[in-house]
Amino acid sequence: MEKIVSLCKRRGFIFQGSEIYGGLAGFFDYGHYGLALQNNIKNSWWKKFVDTRRDMYGLNSSIIFNPKVWEASGHVKGFLGVTEEGKKFNEMFKTEVGVGEDALTAYLRPETAQGIFVNFKNTVDAFHPKLPFGIAQIGKAFRNEIAPRDFVFRLRELEQMEVEYFIRAEDWEKYFEYWRGQMMDWMEEIGLDMGKIHELEVGDGDRAHYSKKTIDFEFDFPFGRKELYGLAYRTDFDLKNHKLDYIDEEKSEKIIPHVIEPSMGVERSVLALLLSVYAEDEKDGEVRSYLKFKPNIAPVICAVSPLLKNKPELVEYANTKVYAPLKEEFGRVAWDDNGNIGKRYRRQDEIGTPFCIVVDFDTLADDTVTVRERDTGGQERVKVADLRTYLKEKIK
Ligand code: GAP
Repeated sequence: MEKIVSLCKRRGFIFQGSEIYGGLAGFFDYGHYGLALQNNIKNSWWKKFVDTRRDMYGLNSSIIFNPKVWEASGHVKGFLGVTEEGKKFNEMFKTEVGVGEDALTAYLRPETAQGIFVNFKNTVDAFHPKLPFGIAQIGKAFRNEIAPRDFVFRLRELEQMEVEYFIRAEDWEKYFEYWRGQMMDWMEEIGLDMGKIHELEVGDGDRAHYSKKTIDFEFDFPFGRKELYGLAYRTDFDLKNHKLDYIDEEKSEKIIPHVIEPSMGVERSVLALLLSVYAEDEKDGEVRSYLKFKPNIAPVICAVSPLLKNKPELVEYANTKVYAPLKEEFGRVAWDDNGNIGKRYRRQDEIGTPFCIVVDFDTLADDTVTVRERDTGGQERVKVADLRTYLKEKIK
């Protein structure tokens, strides 16, 4: 963990929030590369669970709702944490909307899910979806955790990726199994170490107040086996409490759909992924550490370097003929001319950049560059004109 935490800071992934004022427990800030990693994770999730499906509707709801939402959802009564002394307290952050006597006590949402439930009718009226269908949302949630800890594992400000999948009551077991498989597939797709994932069925006393069955996907973190994601059968609990229903036009019947909820934390994904891809080996008689990200998840796809930074013809070529067009095409491209080539490789290895492209004197003669691969250190010559297709093929 210490290695990951210091790498994250050194290489601009994740910083302690409010650090120059001594920090504030449970809040973290994402730097350039951490943000790119987070975005790649979220985009991969959105692509799999929204864009490539026909039965899913996206949503971006507000964070503060009319407080009646949290009374109906059971969170005012039931979203409780326990202090070390055994005292119960509500984990929702309180805030005020309006001023003076008219001020309304409101809460920052502790889950994105309720934003979905309160927009159930809007979504049905706008899109007329047939059951089963889902509504998906990625967004911030806030919890006044009594003991935020373990870097970005337990936060007070976090981000969730959630689907509420609306089904007929009798189908719940089928879709619970289906979503269990979908979650597993996605974990593998982003490159989590599947040997470290374990399923745990949550017992009767430990489930959230709305759930009839929950599976936690746990991950072997260095600080123990802990919850990474959750899959819950929320029954018709939420829609019923919000007095919402659904009219099946074909069968002309009114029902309250039941809900399967796969829920995944963005920051826990980031942490579990960093722990999955962190590796060390020996290269050129030195220990190197590197991040074995899949190219489509890596914050940087490739770094471009002129072999020598004091040779204007190399710099000019690298800048205009390699870096500029690749940056334009892929965005996630770094320029690195600091220190010698060995140092640049080590730095890019630590960021997890899968390819380093070097412009040398041969390039000026034959328009080819060296492409060096991160994990093996293997190198090949590639035509400058082929670089785009070469990289596109790799990040598929
Ligand atoms: N809507 C269901 C729900 O919120 P949860 O198990 O409380 O269920 C879902 O949270 C996921 O959100 C967790 O599996 C985890 O990935 C993430 N999460 C929850 N609390 C967190 C916290 N304090 N810090 C970081 N991530 C958290």
